[in-house]
Amino acid sequence: MTADDSAEIAGTYRAFARWDAHGRSPAYESLADAVAGDAALVRFLGSLPPDKRQPNLVFSAARYLLGAPPGIEELRDLASRSRAAFTEALLSRRTQTNEPARCAVLLPALAQLPPPLALIEVGASAGLTLLVDRYSYDYAGHRLAGRDPQAPTLRCTPSGPVPLPARLPEIVWRAGLDLSPLDVRDENDARWLSCLVWPGEGDREQRLAAALASARRDPPTVHRGDLLTDLPALAAEAPADATLVIYHSFVLAYVAPGKRAGFTAMVRDLGVVWLSNEAPGVVPGLPATSARAEGMSVLVRDGRTPLAHTDPHGTWLRWLS
Ligand SMILES: C[S@@+](CC[C@H](N)C(=O)[O-])C[C@H]1O[C@@H](n2cnc3c(N)ncnc32)[C@H](O)[C@@H]1O
Repeated sequence: MTADDSAEIAGTYRAFARWDAHGRSPAYESLADAVAGDAALVRFLGSLPPDKRQPNLVFSAARYLLGAPPGIEELRDLASRSRAAFTEALLSRRTQTNEPARCAVLLPALAQLPPPLALIEVGASAGLTLLVDRYSYDYAGHRLAGRDPQAPTLRCTPSGPVPLPARLPEIVWRAGLDLSPLDVRDENDARWLSCLVWPGEGDREQRLAAALASARRDPPTVHRGDLLTDLPALAAEAPADATLVIYHSFVLAYVAPGKRAGFTAMVRDLGVVWLSNEAPGVVPGLPATSARAEGMSVLVRDGRTPLAHTDPHGTWLRWLS
């Protein structure tokens, strides 16, 4: 590993502490800073393939092995004394955080479309963000009841002219696509999802547990496949008499930048409704804004029209006029 590699890894961890963990997870903020200053850990990370060095993946894999969020001593220990098991966990898992509350920022855009709807989510993980009509919603007092009364109520603070729907849209067909679908019925997959939640993130763990319980009662279908190659075949399976919506949320950042334009061109060619909920600068052709600094994501229709700034975890939604 070169000095440049070490500097890049340390920089990634410092940036994660400052931009991602700050204000959300004090434990991971200080852990990421500590990793950035630890030469032995940086060397261990440098021995991994580049896409396996991300703080989120490393901390979650450690939590999966330890059964509790790691501190710097535990990380040092895993990287030295349990190196093989730690490496194996990192190589076999990927960042698949599945946040049901992101449905609350998608819902107003979905409810504006001509019903009934057919949904395809690319990068669906376990499919929890496919179950839009299963959850109940509370937009600062504007309430909507979901199909499963035991599923969580997603609370989201709206601002701006959000077109809050009077009812949930009718969804007649849905399917997910993921490189490595997680199975809501599999205990290890469910545990991995819970390890991806950061310590200090309020009610996310309870919300995830309730969403998983609902999903287990009627599991969503998530096909194994690559959004770069397998989307047209899946889109061809959707019923012709429904409005087909293809959407993705916190996915394109995991696709190599040089390949993203191929995906967006393919979605445009399909002639469907396309919603993206990604960090600014991730979807090609859309300007990067200051939203990263402010920790926001952007909901965009058809790769052209920014609809809203959104909280990455769905707790607020600022509609753009
Ligand atoms: C951070 S998770 C987001 C899950 C869900 N969209 C959400 O918002 O909760 C990203 C997901 O994208 C999937 N993914 C990454 N690259 C992919 C690709 N080329 N094709 C299909 N899925 C991909 C990962 O496996 C992972 O499950």
